[in-house]
Amino acid sequence: MTAKRSPQTGNNLDPWYHHYAERAAGLRASEVRALFAVASRPEVVSLAGGMPFVAALPPDLVINAMDRVMRQQGPVALQYGSGQGVPVLREQILEVMGLEGIRAHADDVVVTTGSQHALELVSKLFLDPGDVVLSEGPSYVTAMVIFKSYQAEVEHVPMDEHGLIPEALRQHIQRLKAAGKTIKFLYTIPNFHNPAGVTLSWARRLEILEIARADDILVLEDNPYGLLYFDQPAPDAMRSLEEDGVVYLGTFSKTLAPGFRVGWALAPHAIREKLVLANEAAVLSPSSFSQLVISEYLATSDWKGQINTFRGVYRERKNALLDALEEYLPGLTWTNPNGGFYVWVTLPEGLDSKAMLPRAVKELVAYTPGTAFFADGDGRRNMRLSFCYPTPDHIRVGIRRLASVLRDELDLLETFAGTGSLNPLRAEGRFNSPPPDIS
Ligand SMILES: Cc1ncc(COP(=O)(O)O)c(C=O)c1O
Repeated sequence: MTAKRSPQTGNNLDPWYHHYAERAAGLRASEVRALFAVASRPEVVSLAGGMPFVAALPPDLVINAMDRVMRQQGPVALQYGSGQGVPVLREQILEVMGLEGIRAHADDVVVTTGSQHALELVSKLFLDPGDVVLSEGPSYVTAMVIFKSYQAEVEHVPMDEHGLIPEALRQHIQRLKAAGKTIKFLYTIPNFHNPAGVTLSWARRLEILEIARADDILVLEDNPYGLLYFDQPAPDAMRSLEEDGVVYLGTFSKTLAPGFRVGWALAPHAIREKLVLANEAAVLSPSSFSQLVISEYLATSDWKGQINTFRGVYRERKNALLDALEEYLPGLTWTNPNGGFYVWVTLPEGLDSKAMLPRAVKELVAYTPGTAFFADGDGRRNMRLSFCYPTPDHIRVGIRRLASVLRDELDLLETFAGTGSLNPLRAEGRFNSPPPDIS
């Protein structure tokens, strides 16, 4: 076997090291992956992962749905199905999306293996090497992994507490066009953003769609958390305003359970046809069994009531997290999400969340460093804290531990910088004011 091109990721112990396709270079394990293996030990309070709290779903709801599916349509459930998804489920998905103002036709829905797979399929259809994907900065880490695996460049557009900043989007587009770049789509998470926790305002949704229309840029609207609001529902989906320029992604992972691996894309006709072909090429058909069980669950259970239950669980945990931050870390700033799973924290000047992570894990608390959510190494002064999985009591313990790690870090910094009172965590409340700019 002969080497065909320059080395990729991996190491020379791998006999196939020189044989991987160039796109495989985009598939890198996160630098903090090894630490997360340690962080999954029970004694560690992990504020790092984004696992839904599936224990809040009564198992009987799923068991009964499975039982009925197997008794009534077992051979269909165990068989290959349509590459577009089970028709009755696609109709039910319309009702789910209707809660966020979307009117659509079931023909334009493509069921996928989680919305993650829809992200993969859309990327496969649109991205050539060197293309640009615009996304919020920070953005969902595993979407960026896909974009990079298609050798696209991720260009971050700053956001603030109202979401993506339209004026910044305009400027980025102008600059990229002037540089001769091809922008393929804007990837956005308008509701209860992962990782930033913020929600795009209604006025900005309108403005961003106008910009995208004017510049002929497709919008990829990723909305896993929209129905998991705490007080006020999020504004209606961008897709409710614009049919032809938006591919909308939804999922049952957060409102039911991720184990089913069922999500969907709602796309303009032409794109939808290609998505079905790409879906068939990748998986033949999404799981008939999962789709039929979900369909049965939606038809026979109080699924809206169950979403309410989830909302209550996550609201309580978010409140526990913010109360603990107020109490133990008043020197930091953080976003206050009205839904979803995540809070985005900004650290005092001089701290580095990535460098600090091993010490935090040693103190039995884990978080995700901000750098994971930027394609360009930004985010050192940020961390994402997830409140979805640990109990309120564990969250409190986790933040207390985090506070002790941060105080030690700041003391160290103070000692070496020798500039006197740098440690804002000792000057209670001093930095505890405005909503952080997370650009
Ligand atoms: C923003 C975002 N998009 C997509 C996904 C993928 O979800 P799934 O493939 O389970 O539908 C996630 C999962 O955490 C997410 O946070």
